Amino acid sequence: MEIELRRIEKHFGPVHANRDISVTFHEGRIVGILGENGAGKSTLMKILSGFQPADSGEILIDGRTIDYTGPTAAIANGIGMLQQDPLDVGAFTVLENFIYGGGDGITLQRKQAEAALRELTARFGFELDPYQPIDNLLIAERQQLEIIRLLALGVKTLILDEPTTGISAEQKLILFQALRRLAHDEGMIILLVSHKLEDVIDLCDEVMVLRAGLLIGDMQMPSADENLTSAVIADVKQALVTMMFGEELEAQSRGEIEMGSPVLEVEQLVVHDLRLDMQPISMTARAGEVIGLAGLGGSGQELFMRACARLQRVTGGALRFNGGNALSLSYRQLFHRGCIFGAAGRLEEGLIAGLTLTEHTALVADDNLRIDWKDMQKRTISRIDQYRVKGRATDQIEQLSGGNQQRVLMGLLPDNPKLLILEQPTRGLDVDSARWIWTQLLERCQQGTAIIFNSSDLEELVTYSDRIFVFYVGSVYEVPDANDTSIDELGFLIGGEFARA
Ligand SMILES: Nc1ncnc2c1ncn2[C@@H]1O[C@H](COP(=O)(O)OP(=O)(O)OP(=O)(O)O)[C@@H](O)[C@H]1O
Ligand SMILES: [Mg+2]
Repeated sequence: MEIELRRIEKHFGPVHANRDISVTFHEGRIVGILGENGAGKSTLMKILSGFQPADSGEILIDGRTIDYTGPTAAIANGIGMLQQDPLDVGAFTVLENFIYGGGDGITLQRKQAEAALRELTARFGFELDPYQPIDNLLIAERQQLEIIRLLALGVKTLILDEPTTGISAEQKLILFQALRRLAHDEGMIILLVSHKLEDVIDLCDEVMVLRAGLLIGDMQMPSADENLTSAVIADVKQALVTMMFGEELEAQSRGEIEMGSPVLEVEQLVVHDLRLDMQPISMTARAGEVIGLAGLGGSGQELFMRACARLQRVTGGALRFNGGNALSLSYRQLFHRGCIFGAAGRLEEGLIAGLTLTEHTALVADDNLRIDWKDMQKRTISRIDQYRVKGRATDQIEQLSGGNQQRVLMGLLPDNPKLLILEQPTRGLDVDSARWIWTQLLERCQQGTAIIFNSSDLEELVTYSDRIFVFYVGSVYEVPDANDTSIDELGFLIGGEFARA
């Protein structure tokens, strides 16, 4: 199979999201699609997979022009896509989703479908229970389901939009293994949109870079047989960053911030969870301090952060906020005292699809007895400016690119909180935007805000944390000197090395 995009154009009102893009994808190749937030990556991939029409341009498959009427038509032509923010039906089971997700005219017999599901699952080393409701699945498992569903429908080109945000390192290995096999052994075309340069270098055969809607260029990636030393990887990374942003970014450092008195004191806290055996946790966060939480997804760090914000039940120990007993307070009461929780899920938890940016500002305003819309609009415009969001106050949140949604989420945080508990604050952001968000966060630390955050990006943890705690199946380990720890060392700890030592 060979796919050619010819002179693709797409506007959204004044935004020129794709400008005259022409590119050809060959079978057996894994191609990375890179570009800063809002560059037009998702737009181009949605056009190719039939989720939205181009204004003009052509799509040719094996030299034949195809007319798209929607994603079902794209799948019938062998092209399927995993969306950046997956929306599937929660109440259905894995098997039901597999059977009914086929679109028009595809009804498999239950028995037959279950056999097919189990066969595909086993083939790729995925672990999916056909009778689990989708609601209970991790992001990685939903992805796996979506991949095998598309494969069962005969897709020959698979598009993945930021598949590694929100999944663990282990799950990523499984996913990458499956993708390599599909491309290199079975001749499929794999298109991967990602901001994680390490992932792209690791997985892709070549990359194409978009900037402000234009195709800027492409580059071959070093093959796995070559000796991929960290120096080689650093060079390739720098070359990609230069292509994406047109300039070389300087390394950012944490800087000196003076620490004040304790803001949050956690003593032998036992977080309640049915699946994970959570060990008692002790930790103190001081004003101005940044505490990073490391660990594979689901190791207890998310539960711990939610417990600190009083969003998760606690069965023992003490929790003090600003010297007072926080266990006697509700989430809302803590919030009003300056303990702010920022959830990772963009469209699932933090933001509400269908509401405009201004309406989001109104939602978090303290004084919500009567809403002054003029004032809300003014505040929103100033935040858009401050957070360099590519979007307008009147846009609905889902019209923004993924990275710009994350900026809005950050922009909605109050100005001077005492404590920020942030789940993956730079998830889905490009390198430049991530640095920029941290500049904003560190400014708040200068003002005395304490930050507790988690991340699957080890470099981010090492760069910004004063102290790092590693979570591993419910146990916690404090890294003795966060300032001297290396990414490799942290990687070992995350795999449970401390638990075995
Ligand atoms: N449905 C829409 N309505 C209005 N504008 C849109 C819509 N979808 C995308 N845009 C705009 O088009 C531009 C490109 O968006 P796109 O989602 O393709 O970016 P992206 O490269 O995927 O970015 P990110 O890395 O942040 O996900 C952005 O400025 C975005 O705000
Ligand atoms: Mg996108």
